[in-house]
Amino acid sequence: AKYSSSPVIKCELGDSLEEFLTKATPDKGLIRLLMCMGEAIRTIAYKVRTAACGGTQCVNSFGDEQLAVDLLADKLLFEALTYSHFCKYACSEEVPELQDMGGPAEGGFSVAFDPLDGSSIVDTNFTVGTIFGVWPGDKLTGVTGRDQVAAAMGIYGPRTTYVLALKGFPGTHEFLLLDEGKWQHVKETTEVGEGKLFCPGNLRATADNPAYEKLIQYYVREKYTLRYTGGMVPDVNQIIVKEKGIFTNVASPSAKAKLRLLFEVAPLGFLIENAGGYSSDGTQSVLDKVINNLDERTQVAYGSKNEIIRFEKTLYGSS
Ligand code: AHG
Ligand code: MN
Ligand code: MN
Ligand code: MN
Repeated sequence: AKYSSSPVIKCELGDSLEEFLTKATPDKGLIRLLMCMGEAIRTIAYKVRTAACGGTQCVNSFGDEQLAVDLLADKLLFEALTYSHFCKYACSEEVPELQDMGGPAEGGFSVAFDPLDGSSIVDTNFTVGTIFGVWPGDKLTGVTGRDQVAAAMGIYGPRTTYVLALKGFPGTHEFLLLDEGKWQHVKETTEVGEGKLFCPGNLRATADNPAYEKLIQYYVREKYTLRYTGGMVPDVNQIIVKEKGIFTNVASPSAKAKLRLLFEVAPLGFLIENAGGYSSDGTQSVLDKVINNLDERTQVAYGSKNEIIRFEKTLYGSS
């Protein structure tokens, strides 16, 4: 099921973020929260440019080395959520426990975020990003990705963009950070069509996952174009921008699932499906998976309808 059915005023490309949000939802609290997150993303974009790429000698609960810039982004996002006054609970990849942000449970939201996705590619100057999902009320477990009321990513590349989708409003929308500091609506995606572009994550799993190996061989044989950076944000964003392709991150006994359902996979699933694309963990949409634990991980694919059908068939269909 898609969220694109409700009749709403169509937004005009060129709108400011606030103009767009006012047309996209009547919920003033949600508008305020998304505007505040936009402010934090703008600051992170600026900080990432000159941040030291060194570690803090700390590892988070996922076993990732934490960079100073991971923690700075984390702090800025928690502050933005407090300042929004509409966030009840928040948690992040770096602080995966519910933090009370002081907002109301009723009429307010709970937010899960990955402050900086791709921290191991800051030094190589590849694109990195922020990912977050917004759930109504005070729950981030016992819910599914489909319960999100909005999801977004901030993208720090040659351009700084804020890509977001709202429940009940069609499309996934890209805002470009202009020189004067404003966000301008520059693209909307409502369909993901077919096209031979693949983005294969966790390729090491092909060593002991023959079905994944078979899928990769299909792309090679069919002369798909390879486009992979190792940053999930730009890797998934290209499907939304190019309106075609597939991203995979498949697990095996020796190369376990790494991506986090709450902080990464569910928000990106919301962005892809609102854009007219599809997602899967191999058997179902990632938006239908119940989030049992804040730190749950999963394998995932995002892409066009036919690519996701092929993905599920090759991984778990009888051949
Ligand atoms: P993070 O930097 O937030 O810890 O996660 C990075 C993720 C994701 O962006 C990417 O798809 C994946 O790590 C790549 O992992 P490997 O480099 O281990 O394959
Ligand atoms: Mn990390
Ligand atoms: Mn990440
Ligand atoms: Mn991260």
